[in-house]
Amino acid sequence: MLLETHVLQDTDPDLPGLLGDGFEVVGESWGAELVIDGGADTAALLERLRGFVASARGSGLELRELAPRDAPAIEALDAESWADVPTTPATVHAPVSAADVHDWARRGRRAFGALDGDRLVGVCVGSAGDNDFVVVAPDQRGRGIGAAVVAAWMLGAIAAGERAFTAGGASQNARSLGMIRAVGFRVTERWLSLQRP
Ligand SMILES: CC(C)(COP(=O)(O)OP(=O)(O)OC[C@H]1O[C@@H](n2cnc3c(N)ncnc32)[C@H](O)[C@@H]1OP(=O)(O)O)[C@@H](O)C(=O)NCCC(=O)NCCS
Repeated sequence: MLLETHVLQDTDPDLPGLLGDGFEVVGESWGAELVIDGGADTAALLERLRGFVASARGSGLELRELAPRDAPAIEALDAESWADVPTTPATVHAPVSAADVHDWARRGRRAFGALDGDRLVGVCVGSAGDNDFVVVAPDQRGRGIGAAVVAAWMLGAIAAGERAFTAGGASQNARSLGMIRAVGFRVTERWLSLQRP
């Protein structure tokens, strides 16, 4: 059965009414942003981003923009990586197929990856400054790869003229929130998913 679902910010004036109507909070998520305004913090931010990339390269990984020829590796990494990830109705990750990847360039999506030899171990995907998703192979997490692919993607976008970045995720996903904060994002929005049992 398809449940009626509402996704709204915790400041939304409709929230009390929905709760009064019997809706319950079934998920919490966040929105974060990072704006590069050319101020005093900009040089430090760029240095931090380059540092994430340099330290991944220093540990022997290759960091580069991905291309259509990487589609099978992206599909395989995506397929093995989401089973243990908390989700909400607002943050569902649709599995990525190789055919999807071939369509990314046309849709303005760019992907940056980390490779250990021939093996793709991490990827960050986004359109302009909007982060779509980041994923690191389950056995490679906690080594700085997530932060490095996000940084590589951001540096690519900055080089293309982008100055405003957004990201989002499930509140229960501590790894994702920790990584996005480590990179320099600030959480600006909290969202609630409501359903009526
Ligand atoms: C989220 C994810 C991409 C992070 O990648 P990662 O390579 O494990 O993260 P990093 O090693 O680069 O960690 C960067 C920072 O994140 C934070 N972090 C990492 N693991 C964490 C954990 N288990 N709990 C809390 N914070 C954590 C830390 O601040 C860390 O910086 P530090 O090591 O200097 O303290 C990875 O865990 C993953 O693929 N998860 C499944 C998919 C997913 O949830 N994607 C995000 C939703 S789009």
